[in-house]
Amino acid sequence: MTNGELFDMAVKAAERSYSPYSHFKVGAALLAEDGKIFTGCNIENASYSLTNCAERTAVFKAVSEGVTKFKAIAVAGSGDNDFSKPCAPCGACLQVLSEFCGDDLVVVLSNGWYRLADLMPMRFTDKSMK
Ligand code: THU
Repeated sequence: MTNGELFDMAVKAAERSYSPYSHFKVGAALLAEDGKIFTGCNIENASYSLTNCAERTAVFKAVSEGVTKFKAIAVAGSGDNDFSKPCAPCGACLQVLSEFCGDDLVVVLSNGWYRLADLMPMRFTDKSMK
C-alpha cells in the first residue's frame, strides 16, 4: 500500500461524508499494522458539537473491531471536491490517534507525509500521569 493509494482511499471515503452544515467533506483511511485498512468520514449533527471527524470515525471503527495498532493514516478534505489542498487532522483527532500510535505514525496529506510527532510534538499520554 503506497501513500498515494492510501490517500486515494481517503478521497473515496470522503464521498460518504455526512456534512449538510459545513459542506466540507473529509475522508480518512487508517492502515493498521496487520495490513487492514479502516476508512471513515465526517458525520455532522444538527447539534453541531456532536459532529464526529473522519479520522476519529476510522479509529473508532478499527478499535471496535479489535484492531489497535496503526502504521499510517491518510486524510483528505474539501469543500468543493478538490482534494489537492492539505487538510491536517484537528487537535482532537491527533489526541485520539495518539492513544493508539507512536511518534512514527505516518500522516499522509495531499502535499506529502508527516510523522505524528511533527504535528503533535508534545502530547498528553498515560505517561503524563505517572
Ligand atoms: N473535520 C474532520 O472530519 N476532520 C478534521 O480533522 C477536521 C474537521 C470535519 C468536521 C466538520 O464536519 C467539518 O470537517 C468542518 O469542520
